[in-house]
Amino acid sequence: MKIAIVGATGEVGRMMIKCLEEFEIPVTELDLFASQRSAGKELFYNDRPYKVQELKNSALLAHRDYVLFSAGAGVAKSFAPIAAEACDVVIDNSSAFRKEESLPLVVPEVNGDLLGGYSGIVANPNCSTIQIIIPLAVLDKLFGLKKLIVSTYQSVSGSGNNGIQALMQQRRGETDKGIYPEVIDLNVIPQIGAFLDDGYSQEEEKMHHESRKILRLPELEVSATCVRVPVIYGHSVSVYAEFRDKVDLTRAEEALRSAESIIYNPFSYMTPLGLGSSNDSFVSRLRPGTDDHSLCFWNVANNVRLGAATNAVRILKQHAKQAGRL
Ligand SMILES: NC(=O)c1ccc[n+]([C@@H]2O[C@H](COP(=O)([O-])OP(=O)(O)OC[C@H]3O[C@@H](n4cnc5c(N)ncnc54)[C@H](OP(=O)(O)O)[C@@H]3O)[C@@H](O)[C@H]2O)c1
Repeated sequence: MKIAIVGATGEVGRMMIKCLEEFEIPVTELDLFASQRSAGKELFYNDRPYKVQELKNSALLAHRDYVLFSAGAGVAKSFAPIAAEACDVVIDNSSAFRKEESLPLVVPEVNGDLLGGYSGIVANPNCSTIQIIIPLAVLDKLFGLKKLIVSTYQSVSGSGNNGIQALMQQRRGETDKGIYPEVIDLNVIPQIGAFLDDGYSQEEEKMHHESRKILRLPELEVSATCVRVPVIYGHSVSVYAEFRDKVDLTRAEEALRSAESIIYNPFSYMTPLGLGSSNDSFVSRLRPGTDDHSLCFWNVANNVRLGAATNAVRILKQHAKQAGRL
């Protein structure tokens, strides 16, 4: 398959290269793009060096099977439509197209059916949304999800390489806040993105909108509080969910245990440091909520993998299977 990655030098772009290797995608041609700053740098795919090219309109006019974008919303808005004209499927990791009603927002385990026969731009959801939506889709099938209240504990790699740099520099004693509104080292910041008129932040609003769209539950009540914490990799989420039907915890446990991409542990819990290179969504501390129609759980996943690169490459893989390329 002919594949290109835009934003290949970033946290997510580098992980996309690794996921292409790990998922054994049969790549016949690979083009890696980034800004002018990185042109000429070498990145490795299956131990073979590839030179990073500066992103230009003309570079996207060649036909490719898949182009993966991970270079922010501005770059995606300018360049993804050009790539989509020339290639079969563009998978964009930014927020640029997630709200477009006509474009699919996909977590393959949940709504991968949207990929069948599809060609054009596919939006990759927000990191925290991907990891909670996988177990919530399982529980929704059982009991009918009605209401969701979540609090996130999001690592600095969620802001890309600049987030990691800010934390590391502050660890070394520098006082510059970097890209954050407050010092992040030894602190927590209850703001991710700008605040909107209703008091929620942009990141919180993404979780509201994207949960409804992916689960196809336009009436779902959602309230998120998104918090940045001084963790390098791995987002954690505390989830409270209410259901239309009475909750049976044993059935919930059985379903979570057998579901794809979920590791359910009733005896212990995951922490970001324990994640390693896992591509799964970890669920633990499953317990009753405030009544017999609700439950709570603790959810952890690697934001750069499951929350970004892994989901994008899983979209590619599922589309390729359905299109007969795999
Ligand atoms: N990190 C996460 O956990 C996560 C999760 C979900 C979604 N996302 C989204 O994924 C995207 C990338 O995030 P990241 O964490 O990988 O960020 P990052 O580490 O800051 O990397 C950004 C990438 O975009 C490239 N880029 C920036 N401006 C460009 C331009 N004008 N033309 C071409 N390439 C350009 C950079 O190239 P240079 O090296 O040349 O600067 C770099 O490769 C963002 O939209 C982000 O919101 C990230």
